[in-house]
Amino acid sequence: MKQRKKYRKMFHYFLILLFPLVVVGQWGTPPPVVTDQQCQEEYDKILGCIRTPLFTKFDDIPLRDLNKTQELVNEITHVLDCSGFLNCNSSRILQSVFFNQRWISDHFHATLPECLTREAEWSLFNQCGALEDDFNCNRFNKSNLKCHTTELKKQPNCTWEHVKPYVRYYWAARSTCVMAHQWELEMDRHHIKVKRIGDLFNPLAFD
Ligand SMILES: *[C@@H]1O[C@H](CO)[C@@H](O)[C@H](O)[C@H]1NC(C)=O
Ligand SMILES: *[C@@H]1O[C@H](CO)[C@@H](O)[C@H](O)[C@H]1NC(C)=O
Ligand SMILES: *[C@@H]1O[C@H](CO)[C@@H](O)[C@H](O)[C@H]1NC(C)=O
Ligand SMILES: *[C@@H]1O[C@H](CO)[C@@H](O)[C@H](O)[C@H]1NC(C)=O
Repeated sequence: MKQRKKYRKMFHYFLILLFPLVVVGQWGTPPPVVTDQQCQEEYDKILGCIRTPLFTKFDDIPLRDLNKTQELVNEITHVLDCSGFLNCNSSRILQSVFFNQRWISDHFHATLPECLTREAEWSLFNQCGALEDDFNCNRFNKSNLKCHTTELKKQPNCTWEHVKPYVRYYWAARSTCVMAHQWELEMDRHHIKVKRIGDLFNPLAFD
């Protein structure tokens, strides 16, 4: 009994000691002091890594066209490699959004394409509300998900086997929403002038 109490106490100290390490370790390094200008430069660097206008479609993930998907996934990988380690949260969050979108694309094509056709997607959106074009991430919630999975099972090309992959897909889409929102706040905080994530990539040097 006494022994257990001791362990519990140790565990308590362990948590106290470890917790700050975890918080700092989350980003790999202690939060660096960054200036607005530095964050603007990092942002420009990320955009400078983008080589193809196809990147504007990154917001439309998952793309149905497999060739385009492959090209876009490769390009996301390239942008992540090319931009590398950055210090501003605004930069890191944007990289996380890219990473998450790439995951969604891979996951979709591995598990859902024959079930979640455009028709099926429209049917889900009609019944449960669209998930796009809005930064209100509370639209992604359990009761809404319930509606989605219920409708999903009614789709002609879907079976119960698609439900679990769809749930993961749904929460990943929510993550993108939350990160994009967080990213906007960070961009504002550093006074980096940008457009919304959907038309973010149009001001690139593609004209
Ligand atoms: C970046 O985000 C982390 C976690 O939210 C926070 O602790 C840190 O203070 C932020 N760094 C800067 C420079 O804003
Ligand atoms: C897909 O890409 C390959 C190689 O780049 C090309 O040969 C093929 O024609 C493309 N297919 C379609 C449908 O665009
Ligand atoms: C079911 O799958 C077929 C073949 O992939 C596709 O042509 C059809 O449009 C799908 N039906 C629906 C309702 O999604
Ligand atoms: C859950 O999402 C639906 C639509 O996606 C929305 O109408 C509803 O208000 C949300 N509920 C909460 C508690 O945010």
